[in-house]
Amino acid sequence: MKSSQIRQEFINFFKNKNHEAVDSAPMVIKNDPTLMFTNAGMNQFKDLFLGHSEVINKRVCDTQKCLRVSGKHNDLDEVGYDTYHHTMFEMLGNWSFGDYFKKESINWAWELLTEVYKIQKDRMYVTVFEGCELDKISRDNEAADVWAELIDSERIINGNKKDNFWEMGEVGPCGPCSEIHIDIRPDSERKKIDGKQLVNKDHPQVIEVWNLVFMQYLRKSDGSLQELPQKHVDTGMGFERLCMVLQGVTSNYDTDIFQPLIDKIVSSCPFSYGSDEKIDIAMRVIADHLRAIAFSIADGQLPSNTGAGYVIRRILRRAVRYGFTYLGFKNPFIYSLVNQLVLEMGNQFPELKKQQSLIEKVIKEEEQSFLKTLEKGIEKLDQLTLESSNCIPGGLAFELYDTYGFPIDLTQLIANEKGWNIDLEAFEKLLLEQKDRSRKATLIQTQDWIELKKGIKEEFVGYDQTKIKSIITKYRKVNRKGDEFYQLIFDKTPFYPEGGGQVGDNGFLTFSDEKIEVFDTKKENNQI
Ligand code: SER
Repeated sequence: MKSSQIRQEFINFFKNKNHEAVDSAPMVIKNDPTLMFTNAGMNQFKDLFLGHSEVINKRVCDTQKCLRVSGKHNDLDEVGYDTYHHTMFEMLGNWSFGDYFKKESINWAWELLTEVYKIQKDRMYVTVFEGCELDKISRDNEAADVWAELIDSERIINGNKKDNFWEMGEVGPCGPCSEIHIDIRPDSERKKIDGKQLVNKDHPQVIEVWNLVFMQYLRKSDGSLQELPQKHVDTGMGFERLCMVLQGVTSNYDTDIFQPLIDKIVSSCPFSYGSDEKIDIAMRVIADHLRAIAFSIADGQLPSNTGAGYVIRRILRRAVRYGFTYLGFKNPFIYSLVNQLVLEMGNQFPELKKQQSLIEKVIKEEEQSFLKTLEKGIEKLDQLTLESSNCIPGGLAFELYDTYGFPIDLTQLIANEKGWNIDLEAFEKLLLEQKDRSRKATLIQTQDWIELKKGIKEEFVGYDQTKIKSIITKYRKVNRKGDEFYQLIFDKTPFYPEGGGQVGDNGFLTFSDEKIEVFDTKKENNQI
């Protein structure tokens, strides 16, 4: 089954169960100070769970673009090294807002996986919440009883609060969850070790594919739980993992979601995929990161030096550096993969198609500017001979950050590869000092007015004259960004000040042989 069909089958299945199929929310979040990027399918429905918005449709399904690269969920470091973590991924989900609950959601999940996708039942395990004394909640027998009707009881595993109790945050709706895990190891392996022992143990071929969350409590600020009057369902299935299972491969990168991108990378360099682990990692990093960057730009987040923009810049730079070091890409290259991505995903996500040329242009420019400094920075690190401590001095890490644009995690990555550490404490100190310097540099310090003539009423004569002889009645010194300026008050002046949308006048003061420039205090950021 092709990935597009797998996605469509999911949506059709839930549409047939009276769900409304909705669009993915943007991956970039602009109106929630607690989140930079959508990191779970439920983000866009947060207000419905909290009761802040009116529920229009009680049953909804979709595929949601998610990005897990910051905050609580951050998979960036794993991406490329294993076969199943991603920065950007799709989460297939179905929701009930105060409508159906455990019985239906478990039965439908099972029906979809076994009857539509035809996954072997003896390859699946499910988990249920074991309960928690502290929270005074007992085992989720309700979910376990529903599962017991569908699957062998030895395949139902109790899970702890970390894995089987889902909370949106410190406070708010929460509840037990039930995960579905699939064992895709070959039979020979399965005979040797029971898959049950490998559930939730980070085994790349015994993986969680679907999480069914049953929102039935409200976590209050004192830490206690209260039963919700309305109970909700929030499910999330990893689309790329599901495709791996259904396409009979053992890596997400071997599915038709990633293979066309990897083929394109292979055809642009002298290496193949699957023969050298370092080369494979680099190809996976590029294929993965391209998606994260392209979707972020399509959703309006350009790479920049702060906040969400910096997260995107870091991801892009990570990809550039892997391509540079392991695949020999010394010129911009990643941008040329956008077309392939649009061919693969542009139908499901039209924003990608619409923004294609902008995405290409932004990525190319970013690549160009980073490649220029990357070579020099890497040379600097290569030339470094460390003494006994194997520790890169904070000063060098800071220079790489400040002068060469190396995000600290990039330096860390290179250091790890060489078996080195970084003096992070010294780096952080220098970073803080720099922040402090730039804060001070933008400070405006105004000194007190010095009054030269008292009791004189100032007069504006600029409607009739542009040149006038006058005397200074008051002045004060102003320091801004390290420069000194003076503000002067005259008894008569032809200079019209800034006001009502009008820009202040420019001109000169002449005094004997001296000529001093006068300009609008807000004309340019760096002038006063
Ligand atoms: N909110 C749950 C998760 O992110 C299920 O969608 O795993």
